Amino acid sequence: MIDIEWDNSLSVGNDEIDRQHQMWLKILNRTHERIMTGKAHGMLQIGQDTLKEMKEYCAMHFEFEEKYMAQINFEDTRRHTQRHVAFLERLNQIETELRQNPHALVTELFRTMGNWLINHIMNEDMQIGFAQLPVSRPSLPQSATH
Ligand SMILES: [Fe+2]
Repeated sequence: MIDIEWDNSLSVGNDEIDRQHQMWLKILNRTHERIMTGKAHGMLQIGQDTLKEMKEYCAMHFEFEEKYMAQINFEDTRRHTQRHVAFLERLNQIETELRQNPHALVTELFRTMGNWLINHIMNEDMQIGFAQLPVSRPSLPQSATH
C-alpha cells in the first residue's frame, strides 16, 4: 500500500476543514509507515504514539467543526457531533485494550482511521462543507428546514 495523497475529490468545500483533513491524512500515512517499518515488539509504542497524535488532532479538529456547524446553523449538528463522540470513545476503547494485544489493536486502530476517512470525511464532512454552497442545497421549501 502506498500513501494516500490529497486531491480535490477529498475537498469538503471549506479551506480550513480541508487543511485539517490533510493533517489527518498525514497521521494516517505516518501510522502506515510505522506499521510497515516497525518490528512486532514495537507495536505497543506505535499504538501509543498514534493514539496520542489522533487524540490531539481530534480535540482540535472536532472542536473546529462543531463550532463551524453552530456558526452556519447546520441542520444535522447533533448527529454529526455524536459521530465525533463515538469516534473518540472508540479510540479510548482501543487504548484500553492496546496492552493486551498490541498487534491486533494497532491493526484495528489503522482500520478505524481508514474507515473514518471513507465514511466520515468523504461523506458526512462533505455535507457540512457544502452546506454553505447554494448548489448543494436540497430543493426543500423554506418551511421544511425549520
Ligand atoms: Fe466531522
